[in-house]
Amino acid sequence: MRSPLPANEVERLRAVESYGILDTPPEKIFDDLARIAASICGTEVALVSIMDKDRQWFKAKIGWVIKETPREVAFCSHTVLSSEIMIVPDALEDERFADNPLVTQKPHIRFYAGMPLINTDGHALGTICVIDHEPRRLTAAQEVALRVLATSAVGHLELRKAHRLLKTQAERLEEEVRQRTRQLEVAKRRIEMSYDDTLRALGAALDMRDNETAGHSRRVTAYCLQIAKAVGVQGDELKNIERGSYLHDIGKIGIPDAILFKPAKLTEEERKVMESHARIGYDLVGSIAFLSPAAQIALTHQERYDGTGYPQGLAGKEIPLGARIFAVADTLDAMTSDRPYRRALPLEAAREEIKRESGRQFDPEVVRAFLSIPEEVLIGIRAGVENRGNNLESVEREP
Ligand SMILES: [Fe+2]
Repeated sequence: MRSPLPANEVERLRAVESYGILDTPPEKIFDDLARIAASICGTEVALVSIMDKDRQWFKAKIGWVIKETPREVAFCSHTVLSSEIMIVPDALEDERFADNPLVTQKPHIRFYAGMPLINTDGHALGTICVIDHEPRRLTAAQEVALRVLATSAVGHLELRKAHRLLKTQAERLEEEVRQRTRQLEVAKRRIEMSYDDTLRALGAALDMRDNETAGHSRRVTAYCLQIAKAVGVQGDELKNIERGSYLHDIGKIGIPDAILFKPAKLTEEERKVMESHARIGYDLVGSIAFLSPAAQIALTHQERYDGTGYPQGLAGKEIPLGARIFAVADTLDAMTSDRPYRRALPLEAAREEIKRESGRQFDPEVVRAFLSIPEEVLIGIRAGVENRGNNLESVEREP
């Protein structure tokens, strides 16, 4: 015969479901509650169970080996019908259980006392019960203890549920953060690519105007990066130095041909026009947000550490680090490149000159970092840039 069901069985099952506890592994806290129940009531068996649709499933069991029992034969099916403790002193004397197979056969239940686990919404989720093989009774104190243990079991079920909910929410949030981070990375890569395209376009403009200057820009950029790394520059600052050194002479676009390509010495007035390329470059790229830190290098790349440079006559650390690094890279490239009036000088001569100018034209700290770079690295940089030719690959693309 099927055991009677609580009036609110559909809602009760939904409530049971919401705890996500069915078929979970044993947990110490519920084992402990069952152990205390057995100990206080002096029974061989104590169980913490959850009443599923067709079965009673045991979350904790002391003195009991069965994992679950059919609901129709479970004593606890009757316990979950009310909110009070149910006691069966002798099953053989109780017409509801006298012919129950759990009574007539193994495990031969004679005594049963169970307290329903009532949650805050009033649903009986399951029971905490004690069982014995002899008829017996509970003292008032043991009944109280069973009630308290039931309240405690429900409290732990609620905690467990809240914890599970928080964990799910945290996982959902983490997944959302992961997704947004991925989207941001894609967007950032796109922006970086459009930045590089802008940079390439500017470089190409300079190339068309003055091919030699553009070749020089690519080599200087590669040297600047190497020196900057030796100085300890990282991250965005490295990127800004790279862009700034690449565009340092972009202002030459605004210098008339007659001055830019004049084969003879410039007059005082022409020299001033020529020197204006630093500010023209700054004005040209400074208004492009992502290039404004790089524009500082365009503005200050002709300054000297001792304050005798132009256009502002800055000295020492007043000159941005990128420009102080650039100054060394620029001299290195100028000396080791062919000029209309002389052949390229050996690397050693450039290193000596840079060492000599330390503290005058150059920042001693940058010079020290530069001198720490092995010669073969510098030779390799020059060869690498020249092999890449005009494809502007010295301006790194993000991987
Ligand atoms: Fe310049």
